[in-house]
Amino acid sequence: MLKDRRIVLGVTGGIAAYKAAELARELVRRGAKVRVVMTDHACKFITPLTFETLSGNPVATDLFWVPGDFEIGHIALAEFAELVVIAPATANIIGKMAAGLADDLLTTVLLATDAPVLICPAMNAKMYANSVVKENRARLVSRGHMSLAPGYGELACRVEGQGRLAEPSEIAEEIESILTPKDLQGEHILVTAGPTQEPFDPVRFISNYSSGKMGYALAVMARRRGAAVTLVSGPTALPAPRGVAFVPVRTAVEMRDAVLANLAEATVVVKAAAVADYRPAVCEPVKIKKKEGSLTVHLERNPDISSEIASRKGDRIVVGFSMESDHLLEHARKKLIEKGMDFIVANDVTEPGAGFRGDTNVISILDREGGVEAFPLMDKMDVAGVILDRVMKMRESGRIRDGR
Ligand code: PMT
Repeated sequence: MLKDRRIVLGVTGGIAAYKAAELARELVRRGAKVRVVMTDHACKFITPLTFETLSGNPVATDLFWVPGDFEIGHIALAEFAELVVIAPATANIIGKMAAGLADDLLTTVLLATDAPVLICPAMNAKMYANSVVKENRARLVSRGHMSLAPGYGELACRVEGQGRLAEPSEIAEEIESILTPKDLQGEHILVTAGPTQEPFDPVRFISNYSSGKMGYALAVMARRRGAAVTLVSGPTALPAPRGVAFVPVRTAVEMRDAVLANLAEATVVVKAAAVADYRPAVCEPVKIKKKEGSLTVHLERNPDISSEIASRKGDRIVVGFSMESDHLLEHARKKLIEKGMDFIVANDVTEPGAGFRGDTNVISILDREGGVEAFPLMDKMDVAGVILDRVMKMRESGRIRDGR
């Protein structure tokens, strides 16, 4: 998503400068063109060569640097930038920025650029909590700069507290979010993701292979595009996405309750979760012991969450998924109609690269007018983009079926 986006990475002098190398790498991996500016203090912690190697570009450190063709270094960088990120941002750079100083290359670029600026503070917890640093940060935010709060944990100075540089993947995600047009602003998207687990004793359950990747991709993309997002998720190994209201659940009944509790504020519901249709009729309070012969577990129906939403749909846009292993379009169309959805995303789990677990999917979108649009193998993030585009198109058309 950051393909060809032009980012200036300012690195200042804190121990977390080594993590900025990982950030440079992550930005390049996402397709960005990265130019790095280092302060003198940053060069004490890590060498420019590291960033030159990772970014594939020369690293600027000197205020009087002349890039070529007699360009003026700080102006060239200021104009190159679609976004300036400062990671780590020390108390010193935050203070200098707040005061409007321009005594080195980085501070001069910052004064000369129109691009959005994201600061990622990292410092000793007492320094971060210091009222002067707080005031300086507040001043920057009031001028329109963005600040990504540092994390809690053990700091390099061996104290616990808030001051750890945000993780490079979080910073990269924040940059994606800042640079993405906010065409879903005003929408509140409720996404379900992952499997459900239906226990039959304290150590065993029935479940499926859903990793949650498809649903989480939808939540992340929707947030990038400006929507408020609630993610109701069954158990997965994925971290809760930043900036999203996260509601963890385990069983289908818990998922139903969480969806209904959050339905009122939702303008769009996307049901990517793989919900178990059946649950053990009894969950034994103690572990079932091994015995001679076979064991029978009686199953009973779980509530169908989509059908329950259908009866309260109102003017919400409701999107379902259909996971099939045969007769994809036929089964998907039946679910689209029976579950009262506006459109359904069909995926065949037997197709290579589609469905569970992987980072890709192969989908067809079916609408209620009989339309079918098939898409090639795509990354799940791109699949999420296509689904949200369809939501937007539907919103713009103003033709939303009232389910009541
Ligand atoms: O999580 P990943 O590993 O990334 O895999 C993605 C996925 C394959 C799980 C996803 O793309 C997908 O297809 N999700 C829907 C899986 C599913 O349960 O399909 P279904 O055909 O059984 O159900 C149809 C729809 O009804 C779904 O939107 C489902 O969320 C919903 N449903 C199903 C059962 C139930 N009791 N309540 C429901 O609301």
